[in-house]
Amino acid sequence: MKIPMDKPVLVTSALPYVNGECHIGHLRTYVPADIYVRMLRKMGHDVIFISGSDTHGTPIVLSAEAEGIAPEAVVARFHDHFKRIFKALNVDFDYYGQTNSECNHKRTGEIVKKLIDSGYVYMEETKQAFCDTCGRFLPDRYVEGECPYCGASARGDECDQGCGKHLEPGEIIAPKCKICGNEAVFKEQEHFFFHLSRFADFLASYLDNLGGTRNARNYAREWVKKELRDWCITRKLDWGVKFPGRDDLVVYVWVDAPIGYISFTEELMSGDERKWREYWKEDGATIVHFIGTDIIYHHCIFWPAMLKGAGYSLPDAVVASGMVKIDGRTFSKSRGDVVWTSEFLERFHPDTLRYYLVAQSSHTKELNFSWDSFFLRVNNELVGILGNLVHRVVSFAYKNFGVVPEGEIEEEVITKITETREEAINAVEEYEFKKLVDAVMKLADFGNGYFQREEPWHLIKKGDKERERGGEIIKNVLQMLKAVCILLEAVMPEKMVEVWSQLGMESDLQSVKLDELTVPIASGQKLKKPKKLFERVEE
Ligand code: 2FM
Ligand code: ZN
Repeated sequence: MKIPMDKPVLVTSALPYVNGECHIGHLRTYVPADIYVRMLRKMGHDVIFISGSDTHGTPIVLSAEAEGIAPEAVVARFHDHFKRIFKALNVDFDYYGQTNSECNHKRTGEIVKKLIDSGYVYMEETKQAFCDTCGRFLPDRYVEGECPYCGASARGDECDQGCGKHLEPGEIIAPKCKICGNEAVFKEQEHFFFHLSRFADFLASYLDNLGGTRNARNYAREWVKKELRDWCITRKLDWGVKFPGRDDLVVYVWVDAPIGYISFTEELMSGDERKWREYWKEDGATIVHFIGTDIIYHHCIFWPAMLKGAGYSLPDAVVASGMVKIDGRTFSKSRGDVVWTSEFLERFHPDTLRYYLVAQSSHTKELNFSWDSFFLRVNNELVGILGNLVHRVVSFAYKNFGVVPEGEIEEEVITKITETREEAINAVEEYEFKKLVDAVMKLADFGNGYFQREEPWHLIKKGDKERERGGEIIKNVLQMLKAVCILLEAVMPEKMVEVWSQLGMESDLQSVKLDELTVPIASGQKLKKPKKLFERVEE
């Protein structure tokens, strides 16, 4: 989707449940979103980038119970953990909040009340799973069973192993208690429902115009076409945002979690009413959500219906990344099929992981992580192509000239850089970050071929005129390296800053715009002694 230039942009990344450590599966959403934001800024857009910890719901309560500690303690521990990981990976949010903030409690209360006042919420007795052995109701992840839609094994509120559909309480087949493993029964309980079915026509036309990736739109459309069941928006839990007027009920976590996107905008703007309203009440911004394919239903159905019902601005695009597998298997802590981000970062540079996550597969496709594929990408592409080119060229230039030599930038080089710029912009607009790295690596390859073809090492040994021509060639290759830095900064921010500094550039690379791509690198600018960019990686 082409983003209009005349409005600010709000990019969000799905909120991780802070009930355990970050694994590389999480990163498939955050790293591309960060790349997207960095690229939009380079294209001249005014962007804010927001995320935060999802602190409510049974994922948190179950972990707390298992450890015998309070939910607050689980949240505090893993909220800090996620913040540290994002910093280490240079996922650079303007604001990273948490959904248990006062502001989010208030905003959620206000929105739910608005939905009630507008007649979109009703009360009804409903079936809830209950465990006779444990003597308790089993909301959401406290119960497991079979998906009524596809037959896969599922959690109480989502078919996580099969069709991905959200499940209403009482829908799961053959429910079993997650705590004791015994069969559960269904019992009646009083709950509040959101009239989702009334939004079917609205959603059908909204989805037709929604930007973002096709997988998100199509998946949601299929469910809207079938039938929308009304949505139970309360749970009998202590931990969460209280349902207005009911001390015994909290709202379902999928109500207050996305409202976090709004509250975090408010918090970032420190309550400046006029400013955050521009984003969320007045259609004054372009809103883009980055999510995983497992939560399309929530972002393309519940969320826009809720916003519409409460009179808020609607998201313009939903970008859904494919899930990550490990050697062809789904993540599983118990089977050991998991790669922890902190352990990864103890051994490898964060930029190699950022690069791998986008270079390995198209954004909407599954990413099958394997150590072999990681080693191959790093050793062949980052060490073998990019690192080598930078080292060869900068060493040669540093040794023989010490500065950027005099000369014109050739038409051929300008054309190549301009083409790469177009390809990069298209890639960003299509959310195809692999195409972005492929286009820039192609430019690096072209630079390499140009250097080989022109053989400046012969020229500099001949007369003055030839030496001058040799210098001009070097200047042209340095220009291409400058372009590579600008275009790949979004993907490998630390490494590209290293190259930028070797080229003698002093500006802040992160804020350099794409318009700089073809501005000639300044002759006479002092080069720095080159250092190896990437190390080979091995098991
Ligand atoms: O699926 C999840 O991990 C959720 N915590 C995502 C929430 S995103 C948003 F809507 F808040
Ligand atoms: Zn299913």
